[in-house]
Amino acid sequence: NTAAGLAAAAAIDVDEITGHRRMRRTRVADWSRRLVRETRLTVDDLIWPLFIVPGTNIAEPIAAMPGVNRMSVDRAVEAARMAADLGIPALATFPNVEMDKRDVTGSHALDPDNLINQATRAIKQAVPNIGIITDVALDPFTSHGHDGILRDGEIINDETVRAIAAAAVHQADAGADIISPSDMMDGRIGAIRRALDAAGHQNVAIMSYATKFASACYGPYREAIGTSGLLKGDKRTYYLDPSNAMEAIRDAGMDVEEGADMLMVKPGLPYLDICRALKDTYGLPTFAYQVSGEYSMIKAGHAAGYIDGERIMMEKLLAFKRAGCDGILTYFAPEAARLIAKGGG
Ligand code: PBG
Repeated sequence: NTAAGLAAAAAIDVDEITGHRRMRRTRVADWSRRLVRETRLTVDDLIWPLFIVPGTNIAEPIAAMPGVNRMSVDRAVEAARMAADLGIPALATFPNVEMDKRDVTGSHALDPDNLINQATRAIKQAVPNIGIITDVALDPFTSHGHDGILRDGEIINDETVRAIAAAAVHQADAGADIISPSDMMDGRIGAIRRALDAAGHQNVAIMSYATKFASACYGPYREAIGTSGLLKGDKRTYYLDPSNAMEAIRDAGMDVEEGADMLMVKPGLPYLDICRALKDTYGLPTFAYQVSGEYSMIKAGHAAGYIDGERIMMEKLLAFKRAGCDGILTYFAPEAARLIAKGGG
């Protein structure tokens, strides 16, 4: 009855319940919260993706990604210098090439002087102490926006793998430090390793987009590299099904066996369970890609006044660390680096 319940509530001895254990003790003061903090986000955790366009002195806003620009190589060099000054360890570059350079097989990916290789050369020369990660999928170079060679409505695995391995050699020749295949073809890690080694690039590492899911979060990126209008159908015949964690772990396992040096999970936040699983299963350096859609949702929520964008940004970046990631590819990299430098986060 109510009266008995109220009497019990009034007489409750909480120490008797908790056995004198109090979780809040260490949370009382700021110094104490800092002392017991388990996970930290530092500038060393950040990889900054950059979009490159042909031309000079161009920094054009991407409508679907507020605060992010497509930059010509000269401006990308300036951005790289700024990133290095902020202490950001590495960049990931993505090209938006002219439409007339795109074809069914993505042949321009194999041009040693294509936009991505030009950018690598220029950045390496001007800012030698920043790491360059190049994405080696064919989608920026295909007329249909798919990551592989398309024939009779099908993405042809083995032919794509050979093209990607060749493109990787050119990227490494240009100075890329890490080759990062994002296409999800079978056998690509082993193929790239063999091709790189044969070319004398033993020290060029491979960061596999090991578990890349067929996600709705890539929309703004496709605008950024100009594939949104081109893509017909979807990528479900080669990207992972968002339902499948066990398959993702098996798929990453193949990449590990084939010689991947680092693993990546993409998108990031909806797949934190996969981040943790890969880290615990393989123990390799593990990265999350907080993709364009994840970025734009935070920006849009902040602009609408629904959330504090800065706090959400830091909370989500920290979540990747807590889930076992060693670093994050994020469009927020400079913003987060500045905040960390000011003592925030
Ligand atoms: C494809 C590729 C994608 C991204 C980078 N490389 C996905 C896609 O277009 O299917 C997405 C990055 C992002 O959304 O930020 N090779």
